[in-house]
Parts: sequence; C-alpha cells; structure tokens
Amino acid sequence: MSITSDIELSGMQKISKAVAITLKQMREHAKPGMSAKELDEYGGKILSEWGAASAPKLTYGFPGWTCISVNNEIAHGIPSKKKIFMEGDLINIDVSAELDGYWSDNGGSFVLGQDINNQLPLVNASKRILYTAISQIKAGVRIADIGGLIETEAKKLHYKVIKNLVGHGVGRSLHEEPFEIPCYYDRTNSAKFNLHSVVAIETFISTNATIAEEKGDGWTFVTKDGSFVAQHEHTIVVTNGKPVILTESNGIWN
Ligand code: CO
Ligand code: CO
Repeated sequence: MSITSDIELSGMQKISKAVAITLKQMREHAKPGMSAKELDEYGGKILSEWGAASAPKLTYGFPGWTCISVNNEIAHGIPSKKKIFMEGDLINIDVSAELDGYWSDNGGSFVLGQDINNQLPLVNASKRILYTAISQIKAGVRIADIGGLIETEAKKLHYKVIKNLVGHGVGRSLHEEPFEIPCYYDRTNSAKFNLHSVVAIETFISTNATIAEEKGDGWTFVTKDGSFVAQHEHTIVVTNGKPVILTESNGIWN
C-alpha cells in the first residue's frame, strides 16, 4: 500500500507493533524441550490480545498462528507438536497479522541457547545484511539494486542467497505490489521503490543452496542439500531519506 494519511500510518504502526512484540516475546519464550506448537500457541495468544488475526491463517488457511522453521527448514514451517526444540537449533519465527484492515509482516532467525552448531555467523550475517539493505532504500531506488546489494554482501561472507523466496509489498493484504523484492540482482526487474509505499524487506542468506524446495507437506520450504538459511524481515515505509521501520520493536538487530 501507499501511505496517504495519518490514519493509515497509525493503522500500520499499530499492527506492526503487534507483530513485532509478538515475534520478540516468542523468541524470548522459546526453550529447549518446548514444541513448536506450544510456542505458536503462546504467540497466537499475544496476537489475540492485540486484537490481531494471523495473516497466513486468514490468507492461506495455514495450520498455525505463526510460521516456525527449524534447522534445514527455511520458511513456512508448520508449528507442530512433534517439532521439539533442541539446544543450538537454528529457529526462524515469522509473524504476520491483520488488524483493522492493515497487515504487517516480520521475522527473524536465532540460535536457541548455546551456539553448539556454530550457526551464529550465519544469523549475524543475515541481520547485518538486512540492516545494510534497508539503509539504502529510498524512493526511486531500483528494487533490483537492493537485491544485488543483498547478494553481494552475502558473497563477501562466502554465503549465497535463496532466489525463489522474496520480500514484497504489504499493508492492505499480506502480499501485494511489488510482489517480488528478491535477494539477487534481477536485471529484468526495472521496478523502483515508490515514495510512501509499505514493503516487507527480507533476507534469505544460505550456506549453500540457492533454491527453496517444498518439503511435501504443502507448506514447508527446505534445502535439499542440508544447507542452512537465516532470514530477517522488517516492514518499512519508503521515504526520501531513511525508511521508517514499522516493526523495529521486534529487536531482531539487538
Ligand atoms: Co514474513
Ligand atoms: Co514476508
């Protein structure tokens, strides 16, 4: 969407705060031995306290309030009760929701407890690359150039990017124009970031794989070669200067 009034801005601020705080509290609540379902129920309760509705449930009939992906799962992981967290797991939580007709989206990967599998360099790379990418976004910047920046920054650290999972416009629905904000330079994409538009910027930084494949449960994306992927995502408003980061209180950069 494009923000045209203070009412629209405050609508977006409210739902963005709801998804950001839900993500932050879920991350802090996760513990070894807990199931993804238990963590999801906790998150679902926080969303409902804000009066917010789960976006993936509402839009796609997703079997959970939030997406929880563990280790080789990249995204859209089902929060099942069979998924039990272990010390050192690479966990991604993605929270998107709707409130009063406004939609916001955010996510982040983290290491649970002690980093016994040495996943922190990947997580930190993804965080830093998201920060670098968002810092460069303003009205008139080509979407392809931001993709190129994400890919270049990943390469410098000997990582790759997932090419078939992308950021997107958001605001009046979960996924809207521009539908493709990729993590690589797509020279055929001449679209630019528009002033006052609301977009979800997300990294998909990978240790090797460049394609996310469906696991076969109808939802979960995985890497077929066992490589790991970290994702971080903020919903922002594009301006003529630094973007307004609507989901900043999720604390993913802390
Ligand atoms: Co998301
Ligand atoms: Co998104």
